[in-house]
Amino acid sequence: MSKTVVCPGSFDPVTNGHLDIIRRASTLFDHVIVLVVINPDKTPVFTPEERVDMLRRATAGMLNVSVDSYTGLLMDYVREKSACAVVKGLRAMSDFEYEFQMALTNKSLLPYAETIFLTTNSQNMFVSSSLVKQLARFGGDISQFVPKMLHQQIWERLGPAEDQSCKEVE
Ligand code: PNS
Repeated sequence: MSKTVVCPGSFDPVTNGHLDIIRRASTLFDHVIVLVVINPDKTPVFTPEERVDMLRRATAGMLNVSVDSYTGLLMDYVREKSACAVVKGLRAMSDFEYEFQMALTNKSLLPYAETIFLTTNSQNMFVSSSLVKQLARFGGDISQFVPKMLHQQIWERLGPAEDQSCKEVE
């Protein structure tokens, strides 16, 4: 029986850490759906359409990976797609409490579906979308943290305006 899993997240924007997890999940399961979950309480930098587009470009070479977006409960989507599990990356102990709470809540909503955690590789241990956003805003080099083909797009949206430092001095 073909096994579909869902990799959910905000992906605002997608990082190399996310891609590593998606790539590894794609070697373990028949079909991976990367799901941009829209949280009406958050104010993301990139629109859902932009995030889906960036993920599609970054995963274009992964043939059993597709990208979708959704507003609502993750487990409703998992049920709708007949997926067997949710796959998430776990970076450090600091992620654990929140992820554990989510996994238990999701299990109570849909008992047959598992949450599977893949540990990030040591290179991506500290990489997050928030870190990328903060780095870019202050002119830091984000190239090693985001996919090469998206670097320019992310930089153009997040990087500091060219004349910002002059304005500060004046
Ligand atoms: O990348 P993020 O922001 O850490 O992803 C969090 C996400 C989107 C996976 C999580 O917030 C989520 O699953 N949201 C959907 C709503 C839901 O199902 N919540 C859990 C039950 S309360």
